[in-house]
Amino acid sequence: MKHLIDLDDFSLEELNGIIEQAVEIEKNPMAFHGRMTGRILGTLFYEPSTRTQMSFQTAMLRLGGQIVGFDDPQTASVSKGENLKDTVKVVSNYADIIAIRHPLEGSAKAAAQCADCPIINAGDGGHLHPTQTLTDLVTLMCEKGRLDNLTIGLCGDLKFGRTVHSLIKTMLRYPNNRFILISTPELTIPDYLKKAIEQANGSYTEISSLEEALPLLDVLYMTRIQRERFESLQEYRRQKDVYKLDCNKLTHAREDLKILHPLPRVDEIDTDVDDDPRALYFVQANHGVFARMSLILHMLGTDDPSPVMAGQILDRDCANSRCITHQEQYLKHYYLDTPSGPACEYCDCHE
Ligand code: NCD
Repeated sequence: MKHLIDLDDFSLEELNGIIEQAVEIEKNPMAFHGRMTGRILGTLFYEPSTRTQMSFQTAMLRLGGQIVGFDDPQTASVSKGENLKDTVKVVSNYADIIAIRHPLEGSAKAAAQCADCPIINAGDGGHLHPTQTLTDLVTLMCEKGRLDNLTIGLCGDLKFGRTVHSLIKTMLRYPNNRFILISTPELTIPDYLKKAIEQANGSYTEISSLEEALPLLDVLYMTRIQRERFESLQEYRRQKDVYKLDCNKLTHAREDLKILHPLPRVDEIDTDVDDDPRALYFVQANHGVFARMSLILHMLGTDDPSPVMAGQILDRDCANSRCITHQEQYLKHYYLDTPSGPACEYCDCHE
């Protein structure tokens, strides 16, 4: 049984194979129809979603499989007080594979510990979102032709944006990618990611001006400010209108720039930009179906097992209040040894 909690769970060879297969499926989707007949995808969405949930469902249906699940925890037994473990344990006997989205960091890893089928992390709080990254990689492969030697600007909420974290981690695995991190000082990437870039001998620059960064970029990855992750509405309001991409700013960008956004957009990209041929976010959402078709085929086609927990159990509490270990009290506290000290294996917190 193989889970996808972080794209690091796949070797580079596996990851490239999934991307190549997605491109193949995209060229001839009907050739893959029926490959999942009799199989069921469970979608456990404890947080709102349009694209991720529906593209997973579309992917399974297009492969000939079927779907079960919930997208509103108020209608599921969690509203009666059921813990994550019991829900996952039960649904993993109904479904052959589960995609789970949850507001707490490390939730997908917690789910994998008790599941009887493979678990896919469809977003765990402000931590990671590996299947969005897979979508981004398929998009770059199809629309840019390569995953290496890119100057990638990431703009907006780099602190809570899980798509940003997964994308940086994964693009570090391809040679000569450089990151330009465009954000306010309050919303820079977490320290553990800066350390990861340094350890991989990668290069990053932090900058607050989108205008200054634009002419340098091959790829611009815009993100929304993640209102639901802020402790106060006041703090969110201070951040929310800082970055806005419009046609005027784009006059300083390269002709072959690729503008990505995981969506949903709030107002960080002016709708006029949608008509610019460099704007690829709707195309990107389309690639997501093929990326997920390829992922499901890969995960249900492999018998290569992966250990769920690799670290050691320590008698300490995670310092991150958004970590799943605070809600699901039965979880053992696993920590990984890192050069900067023990890190919570669920949420990557280093404190
Ligand atoms: C993203 C998410 O859920 O993290 N959306 C998505 O899955 N396409 C981005 C966001 O919510 O801002």
